[in-house]
Amino acid sequence: MSHLITSGLHVPHRTKALVVGGEGVYLEYSDGTRVLDASNTGGPLGHRHPEMMQAIREAAEFPVVNEGHRWAERDLAADELVETAFLGESWVGGVRFGMSGSEVNDIALTLAQALTGRDPIVARERAYHGLVGLSRDVTVQPQWHGGLSRLAGGVARPSAGAEVRTIPAPRASAWARSGSVNAEALGSSDLDAIDGAAAVIVDYTQGGHYYDRGYQDAVAQRAADAGAVWIADEVVTGLGRSGQWMQFHASDTRPDIVTLGKPLAGGAAPAGAVVLSQRAVAVLRSAKWQNYSTFRAHPVTIHAVRAHLAVAAADGLPERAATLGAEFGGMLVELAERHPSVVRVAGSGLHWTVELSGGPDWRTWESTTTDTHVSDVVVGEARRHGVQISTSDEPTSLFLAPPLIIERAELLRIVEALDAGLALADRIVEEARA
Ligand SMILES: Cc1ncc(COP(=O)(O)O)c(C=O)c1O
Repeated sequence: MSHLITSGLHVPHRTKALVVGGEGVYLEYSDGTRVLDASNTGGPLGHRHPEMMQAIREAAEFPVVNEGHRWAERDLAADELVETAFLGESWVGGVRFGMSGSEVNDIALTLAQALTGRDPIVARERAYHGLVGLSRDVTVQPQWHGGLSRLAGGVARPSAGAEVRTIPAPRASAWARSGSVNAEALGSSDLDAIDGAAAVIVDYTQGGHYYDRGYQDAVAQRAADAGAVWIADEVVTGLGRSGQWMQFHASDTRPDIVTLGKPLAGGAAPAGAVVLSQRAVAVLRSAKWQNYSTFRAHPVTIHAVRAHLAVAAADGLPERAATLGAEFGGMLVELAERHPSVVRVAGSGLHWTVELSGGPDWRTWESTTTDTHVSDVVVGEARRHGVQISTSDEPTSLFLAPPLIIERAELLRIVEALDAGLALADRIVEEARA
């Protein structure tokens, strides 16, 4: 019996077989199976990428230096991040490295409170921003509370550190079985919650809610009018996955703070970053930012970040995600039309959500069960067909986010495996209706 404690979240693909290796977009298991890893937002370059392995070897030669030491590569990593992923735009003032998306969101939110002298924070419906400090507070989806969902019923929720308000999420789809695929225009009072708030934080994938340019501009404008800090959480969408370097690049408005994580170090190291506007950096010049952690900007992180930026730029990975993503989205829509269990398809670049019918009310669903969901059945069948997709612990939502190095033929393999899984979902949904 192992002493290791693991996540209690629904992990339907958990098998007895152990991961023993990986190469490119594939994972290898102790039972001899080789599975296409199609839902791993932390691995944009797949597994064992030669440049990433080289970067980690180089980092191992470096002394153990914390945030208090100056060393050249860390300055270079910040400069290269701004030049490459932020297109060298002059509004960017500075970069602070961290260790995870959760951590950098907490850093960004606490900084926003300090900058504005206000407490309330605004997130959009179904947001997930992490499970640390204020990032947990603004994770408003009920089943991602960071406490305990008791299987006998009821939840034990950690207490919140800030007043959290919600605004509607963007609602555009690529395809919907009923209703409109277009984004609904925000109502005149929909963004009122931003008034008097320290910050509004928005990401564009969680809960299957993707980017909408008009939504970005409306939030940006309202935050500016209200004197609130607009934080763009690009932990998932940043560094190419959305089909451009940053999802916010799809419009002209620019955030006050951007947070980065998951793919930042090319999957080879834990990494996060808080990227501040010139305005925020100007305030910091006349203040002491009382915020420190031992392993932030560790040599392993920094070498991996630099290597990842170089590979992503040389291989044109954001453009690749845009081109392949458009084609992939088309294939998923075609699949959805043939499967009655699918009610909605949405996505951007190489991150897509396929939503099945019969989902719970997300405002109250608390995951107090280990029942097998219809989404688990689809994931299991796709796995039997050699493809790993994921559910984010959601009963009717599937997400697909393959490495950005994936080839077109491998995207077809994902679609075939999903096709097989959806055939089972169709049967379950039809039986439930009958
Ligand atoms: C949008 C978003 N922000 C933040 C996080 C938290 O990142 P991490 O898991 O690295 O703490 C996640 C993780 O899924 C995320 O999806």
